[in-house]
Amino acid sequence: MEILKNRKTLQDFVERQKEMGKRIGFAPTMGALHKGHLSLYEAARKENDLVISSIFVNPTQFNNAEDLEKYPRDVERDILILENSGLVDAVYIPQVEDIYPEKTESQHYDYDGLENEMEGKSRPGHFDGVGTVVEELFRQVTPDNAYFGEKDFQQLAIIRKMVEKKQLPVKITGVSIYRAESGLALSSRNQRLSEERREDSKIIYEILVSVNRWFKLKSIAEIKEKVKEILSTQSGMELEYFMIADENTLKETETVEDSKSYRAFIVVNVDGVRLIDNMHVG
Ligand code: PAJ
Repeated sequence: MEILKNRKTLQDFVERQKEMGKRIGFAPTMGALHKGHLSLYEAARKENDLVISSIFVNPTQFNNAEDLEKYPRDVERDILILENSGLVDAVYIPQVEDIYPEKTESQHYDYDGLENEMEGKSRPGHFDGVGTVVEELFRQVTPDNAYFGEKDFQQLAIIRKMVEKKQLPVKITGVSIYRAESGLALSSRNQRLSEERREDSKIIYEILVSVNRWFKLKSIAEIKEKVKEILSTQSGMELEYFMIADENTLKETETVEDSKSYRAFIVVNVDGVRLIDNMHVG
């Protein structure tokens, strides 16, 4: 596996590959890799001649300095995981100045309102930061295909919107959520939970499975009540939000129309660790 540590080495590498007519699949990450990330590379392997990943903890998408500081970083371990997976041909590990040559700040994006829903409400500016880094990575890596997890469903929708609006020549593919055997969605943050709390957190998945079952039987108001009720009996678990939203607009809905598709979204704080999950319903 090639380890590309700056913009120049990346661009030389990509140029050589393009000359050979290789089709490039790309999956960006912020490191602290786990099997959820590997599922993106697996999807990329199937459709491309070459798979590139990146590891870059993007400062402009964090809402505060402490959160950025606390983000887990272990590049040596990540490189080992990538090597052992055998799924990735090259990893780009840029420095801040490779991505932000002038000022470390976001551009402003209009994602037709997608940025104002859900995570956008609790994390102002977050999706400007995500758009800025992903657009720059696309311009440098020039992938044919790029892969993002449905775990961050709003991020996936926002990137699709950015690519459409800026007419970037890359096809975006969403990859389904990779879960532990218990059902808990894999996340770098799960490491911060005790084993017992990790086990308890499978209730988030169980709730989503129940919501899917209730979707045809109960009103959305009733479903919301049930979700609140279940979580109120769990000590140390605090519901930040639960909603059912239109999959295309991400707007919360109180009623259901046959022509639309819906997804349930949930955020729970478990011992102060913010866990997010979602599931298509209906
Ligand atoms: P990060 O949180 O490292 O996630 C990288 C990619 O892995 C994202 O597309 C995310 O949705 C996907 N992913 C994480 N957990 C997953 C799981 N359990 N199943 C499937 N996919 C999963 O998301 C980011 O980094 C950043 O915002 C980034 C896009 C790299 C821009 O900085």
